[in-house]
Amino acid sequence: MAVHLREQEAEEPVLEVRNVSKRFGHVQALDDVSLKVYRGDIVGLLGDNGAGKSTLIKIIAGNHQCDEGQVFLEGKRVNFSSPAEARAAGIETVYQQSPVCTNATVYENFFIGREPVKSFLGVKTLDVPKMRDDTRKILDDIGVSMPSIDVEMGILSGGQRQAALLGRFLHWGGKIALLDEPFAALGVAESRNALKMVREVSKKGLPIILITHNIEYALQVINKFVILRHGNVVGSGKAQDVTMQDLVATITGAIHLND
Ligand SMILES: Nc1ncnc2c1ncn2[C@@H]1O[C@H](COP(=O)(O)OP(=O)(O)OP(=O)(O)O)[C@@H](O)[C@H]1O
Ligand SMILES: [Mg+2]
Repeated sequence: MAVHLREQEAEEPVLEVRNVSKRFGHVQALDDVSLKVYRGDIVGLLGDNGAGKSTLIKIIAGNHQCDEGQVFLEGKRVNFSSPAEARAAGIETVYQQSPVCTNATVYENFFIGREPVKSFLGVKTLDVPKMRDDTRKILDDIGVSMPSIDVEMGILSGGQRQAALLGRFLHWGGKIALLDEPFAALGVAESRNALKMVREVSKKGLPIILITHNIEYALQVINKFVILRHGNVVGSGKAQDVTMQDLVATITGAIHLND
């Protein structure tokens, strides 16, 4: 998966964050943060609690506006005013507490905003059999077990819900996927599946930014890392060049790691 730096420099990043700063009252959540994500990258966005990871994801995904700096998607400056706008532009986000329609079924959640219609004698109706078939196939492909795709999302466990959301992003793709603590609610087997899904998605060329406190899991999939501490980038580089101990020491502020 590692791509040579020289090849990458000739290539345009899918996503570039340039000199982004964000303040909440007296808290400097992000201070002059820059990063580039290329096709096929899985970038681990690491850092301790309150380091600014979620804030950065939320700026990219249109939940927050930055005070300073710019975000570029495929070379074009973007400034999303809502998550829906970012999603329409190809930015798919999965949060630990992602909003789902708890009273809609699993398959309905899969197709929210993208419902397929069929036409019969000039009358358009929702293609429910297709929605159900596609949902079942996608979940089977990625090894997610659900009691049933006809149950309401609200009755699923946190892990099952998370898995369904990951499946949805895998299916719809987009230009980049932002995963904020995707393993937090998952058990051991589900986490293993989620890691497999992340790899599968990446193989299709879709770049991913992965936030996790689980460095062991991160190192199983990431090719690059960016470490934030108190809103500053204190380390970045290729995963193959560092050990878990290096990453942990940087996250806690014992050392700085820069490529
Ligand atoms: N909406 C907000 N209003 C005020 N302060 C905020 C807001 N969102 C984040 N912050 C503050 O900004 C800082 C960075 O928070 P952020 O959520 O980005 O951290 P994080 O790296 O995601 O941490 P964690 O690993 O605990 O999720 C924290 O000090 C937090 O309290
Ligand atoms: Mg967070």
